[in-house]
Order: sequence, then C-alpha cells, then structure tokens
Amino acid sequence: MANHYVQRDLTAEDIFNTGLRDQWYAICPSTFVERGAMQKVTRWGLDWLLFRKSDGEIRMLADRCPHRGAPLSQGMHLGDRIVCRYHGVQVDGGGTVVKVPGMPGCNMEGQQLVTSLPTREVGGVILAFFASAPDSQPVELGIPDPLADPEVSSFLSYMEWKAPWRYALENLLDPMHGAYLHADSHSMSGGETSARFRIRETDRGFFFEKTDQRGKNFDWVEYCRTGADWVDLEIPYPASAGPGGGFGIIGMATPIDAETTAVFFWRYRRVEGWERDVWRFLYRTTIEARHWAVVEQDRVMLEAMALDADQAENLYQHDLGVIRLRRLYRGQAEEQAKALLDAHG
Ligand code: FES
Ligand SMILES: [Fe+2]
Repeated sequence: MANHYVQRDLTAEDIFNTGLRDQWYAICPSTFVERGAMQKVTRWGLDWLLFRKSDGEIRMLADRCPHRGAPLSQGMHLGDRIVCRYHGVQVDGGGTVVKVPGMPGCNMEGQQLVTSLPTREVGGVILAFFASAPDSQPVELGIPDPLADPEVSSFLSYMEWKAPWRYALENLLDPMHGAYLHADSHSMSGGETSARFRIRETDRGFFFEKTDQRGKNFDWVEYCRTGADWVDLEIPYPASAGPGGGFGIIGMATPIDAETTAVFFWRYRRVEGWERDVWRFLYRTTIEARHWAVVEQDRVMLEAMALDADQAENLYQHDLGVIRLRRLYRGQAEEQAKALLDAHG
C-alpha cells in the first residue's frame, strides 16, 4: 500500500532548504484551528490538514486522500474523522482508513495510510514532530523555559515572510543588526555601533554574545536545540516601558516551503502582580505597535534579499553565529539525506 509522504529521494540541499527532519516545529497559533473546523497549512513544502478531535485534541494529517490523492481539506470534518469529498473515504486522526463507503470491506479499511504527525500545544502554538519516515519516533520536546515559567508573561506574534527560513534564523543569530537596521527604534538606539563577539557553549546549544556590552541593545542571543530549535534573546526597554526591565523574545522559524517562512515570536517579561498588569496594559496600548514597526524592518530586509544572497558573501567576526548555524544544519542535512538513501536505496 502506498504512502505519499515517504520522501525517498531527498538531497541534502532539499533538506537544508525545506527544513531538517526528525525534530519538532511550531506550526501555527492554536487559535487557527477551531473545534469542528479544518485548517490547511503548507509546511516543509508539503500540504497538511489540521483539525481537532471531538475532545479538542489537535490532529495533523497529510492533506492527501489515500484513495486517489484528493486533498482531504476539501472534505468534511465529522467528529473524529475526515471524509474525503471525492468518493467518501473516511480517515481518522491517526491516518487510518475507517470506512470505504463505496466498497464495504475494501482492504484499505483498518490500514494506516495517511501520515499523521505527533502534535503538542505549547504557549498558544501547535507544534508537530516532522519525521523523516512515517515510523520515526518523536524525540523528547524540551519546552523553551520562559514559556513554562509562571513568573513570565508573554504575547505571541505570528508572521509569514517571503524569505527562506534560514534567513529568518540567521537574522536572530545576528545581534549586531540591532544597532543599524533598528537604530531608530525605541529599544535599540543605544550602545556602541561596533563590538567583538564570542560563542559560549551550553549543554543545549550556544550563546552568541558581545564581549564588551550587555543590556544596552540587542547584545546576546542564546540558540537552543531541545527537540525543537529556538532562540532566546533580550532587548532593553526604556524606563517609559514600565516596570520589569528588558524584555525577552523566544523565536522559532518553520519553513512553509523553500522560500517562505512561518515566524513565531513570544515577547515576554518576568513580571508578577501589578507589574504584570502594567506590562500587559502598556504592551497592548503602546509597545506592541512599536514592536511591529521593528519586526517590519526585519521582514522588509529579509524579503528583499536574493535567494542566492549567501553565494558571494564576505563574512566577518560578527557572523560567527550565522556560520556556526549553517555548518550545523548543512552537516545534519547531509546525514539525513544519507540515512534516507541507505534506508531506501
Ligand atoms: S480520492 Fe478521496 S475518496 Fe477517492
Ligand atoms: Fe531585527
């Protein structure tokens, strides 16, 4: 029996461009998938269907009917099942064909023929484990610690950028652009416009940080691999932004396809009691609009960069974080392509 989503012939380049396999990714805000509704999304260059079972649990299926390949998202959501609109085949949330109404007793019944990805909901976002093969077991997911911390109050923002996912991640591993691209912003106008950087290893990734400045601009970022890839960074706030000091950003980027990226930012502050109320009020009334203006500067720059911008670069010391990230991803993409080749010939 055929299963469309076994991708046997992927090259390392394909994997590098559309996302490493066998890790967790942020898919979309939880609010995108209401009970009883179906949400179609493209991730890693493939089409998927999200829905909630009758108990509210999220399911994520390849958006292809196992009969003749019609998109299941054109069908109907009936309780825990999806009914294909073309000939009525019914599939459950685990990807198993439950019923072939036109041919009762058909041998498709009872078989798991549609890829179903393991999912979680964390910090208002649906995450899924993108496996290299239908039977790969999900790795353990370490939730970014600020999202699990009750002392932290965060706001989620979601964007889709017409830029490769590596540009979005590299932008986060590049603190120095704060002092230039965002020099006119309320939070990144201060500090020196030159710096020396260093990489500091951690047991879950590394810090990329300025050696000579902290707390004045975008001065450090931590890159973390905890089953999902994410960054944590800090931006100072002026006193007018209320109590709580600087604010943090947890960032994740997921390839929609090789040229488009889903970007997730949780903007957070460690604030409790009345300080939390002040932060939430100020965020909604003034700070959020300023944040969007800053993020817009990133989006415009990244979308304007050519797809082959990285073919003729002259990198310098500030780009060590970017270099490190690329080396990591290239190496892993090569390993994964080789493993696919070994498994499928
Ligand atoms: S293609 Fe879906 S039931 Fe035929
Ligand atoms: Fe930026």
